[in-house]
Amino acid sequence: MEAFNKIETILSEIEASEVNSAEMLEAFRIKYLGTKNMIKPIFAEMKNVPNDRKKEFGLALNNLKKVAEDKYSALKEIISQQESDREKESIDLTLPPDSDFTGSRHPVSLVMNHMINIFEKIGFVVEEEREIEDDWHNFTAMNTPDDHPARDMQDTFYLKNSVTNLLRTHTSSVQARVMTRQEPPIRIIAPGRVYRNETISARSHCQFHQIEGLYIDKDVSFADMKQTLLYFAKEMYGPKTEIRLRPSYFPFTEPSAEVDVWMGTDTDITYKLTKGTGWLEVLGCGMVDPKVLENCNIDPEVYSGYAFGIGIERSAMQKYDISDIRLLFENDVRFLKQFSSAL
Ligand code: DAH
Repeated sequence: MEAFNKIETILSEIEASEVNSAEMLEAFRIKYLGTKNMIKPIFAEMKNVPNDRKKEFGLALNNLKKVAEDKYSALKEIISQQESDREKESIDLTLPPDSDFTGSRHPVSLVMNHMINIFEKIGFVVEEEREIEDDWHNFTAMNTPDDHPARDMQDTFYLKNSVTNLLRTHTSSVQARVMTRQEPPIRIIAPGRVYRNETISARSHCQFHQIEGLYIDKDVSFADMKQTLLYFAKEMYGPKTEIRLRPSYFPFTEPSAEVDVWMGTDTDITYKLTKGTGWLEVLGCGMVDPKVLENCNIDPEVYSGYAFGIGIERSAMQKYDISDIRLLFENDVRFLKQFSSAL
C-alpha cells in the first residue's frame, strides 16, 4: 500500500534527521508540524485505504504525528541548552563594566546632602527618625491642640484601624523624639520624608522632604537663629544671597517667621516658583514655644532655643530647573539619568 509506505518513509526520515541549530530546528518544525506540514496530506489518503485496514492506518498516522512532536520537544531542549551554554562562555568577566550604566543620585538627595553638609560644618548632628509616628509626637507635643485643622483627616494620613498612628506630616516630630530622650544642649538636624493628604499637582505632592533643625541651650536668642539661617542661605545659594524674614505663625514656635531667599524672576522657573515676586519661601522657623519645652520635660526657665523646617523639593526644582514636582517621584530613568554628572 502506497499510503503505508509514505508513513514509513517519513518515520525513518524523522528518526534520522539531525538538528544542531535554532534555524534547523525551525525548519524541522515547519516541515513536520507547521500548517503546511508533510504529514497532513497523508490524512486525505484515508479514503483510498480499504475498510479493514482503515483503523491500522489511522493508528500509524497518529503515531507518526506523535513521533514528530516528541522529537521536536527533545531537540528544542537540546538546542536551548546549547545556546545558554554558549552565552555563558561568551561573557567575559574580566572586561571593565559598561560606563553607560553608572548610577546617579536623585536630585532630592543631592540637595538634601548639600544642606546636611552645611549644617554639619557648624556643629549640627544628624538625627534620623521614624516616618510612622503617633499623634503625640507629631501634634500634641508640638503644641497643636486636638481641634487644630492640621489634624484634619484631609491633611493627615492615619494608619488603617488607628486613631493615633499616622504618617508624619512634618519632621518637627523629631524635635519631640530628641527632646524627650536627651538633655540640652541639643543641636540637631533631622532630614527625611513627610506626608500630607494633598491633591497632587505640578506644585504639590502627597510626599516630600524636609530638614528640621533644633538648637536648645541656655541663652539662645532670635539673633542667633537669624545668623545661622543667613549663613545657611549664603552657603546654599551663593555668597551674595539676601534673605528676608516675614512674621508668621506656627503652633510650636513663638515668635515665628518664614524665610524667603531672593531668586529674581529672570527665568520661567524662578518666575513660577516665586509666583512672580522673586522671593522663594524656603523655610519656617521661630523660637521654640515654652509649652513645647515643658511637654518634653525641659525647663523653659533655664533653656531656650530655636527651630526651623526647610522644604527640599522647591530648592531642588530651582537648582535644576525642574518645572513639575511630580518628576521627582516618578523615577523615570530618562529624568534621573540627567543628574549623573551632578554628583
Ligand atoms: N513643621 C513646619 C511645616 O511643616 C515647618 C516648621 C516651621 C518647622 C517652623 C519648624 C519651625 O521647626 O520652627 O510646615
